[in-house]
Amino acid sequence: MEDENTTKEDNSISRRSFFKITSVALAAAMSFVLGIPLVGSFVSRAKTIKNKTFSKLGLISSIPVTTKQDERPVKLNFIKTKQDAFIKSQVQENAWVVKKTEADITVFSPICPHLGCRYAWHPEKNLFICPCHNSIFTIDGKVVSGPAPRPLDTLPVEKKEGSLYVLYERFKVGVPQKIVIGD
Ligand code: FES
Repeated sequence: MEDENTTKEDNSISRRSFFKITSVALAAAMSFVLGIPLVGSFVSRAKTIKNKTFSKLGLISSIPVTTKQDERPVKLNFIKTKQDAFIKSQVQENAWVVKKTEADITVFSPICPHLGCRYAWHPEKNLFICPCHNSIFTIDGKVVSGPAPRPLDTLPVEKKEGSLYVLYERFKVGVPQKIVIGD
């Protein structure tokens, strides 16, 4: 009788152990499977950032200085090189440059943060105006009026041997935060 009870207890323990081991293994397998895309996205984001290339905008000395009395932002074209895995592509882009001094240079993305149209400088009003829904910005990128949810987006710049370089990035439109979504 005692033997029979011991055997039943043994069976129940081994069943419990089996379920315990199986559920631990299952949980481990699931977290592994779910974890792969997560790790993948971190790796690909790191790769994207690493592959970003600054593009040459031009000689700093050739960019006109803007003053309060004479506001003169300039739109500069440049060639953007993009490297995706083994494929290298080049496209023409542009950006708005505001140079107050050699040391104080701001480069704005040419894309309106409302819904992505390209805005322009209107010298007769000394304002940037977007033709799509009439968002209006100062030369410093601040919103004067219109539906734009945030100021104009600034782009990272580098100065090297007298030249100005820009890191072209694209940002999520229609939201108050500046969120990078690509290059
Ligand atoms: S896209 Fe510029 S105001 Fe709407």
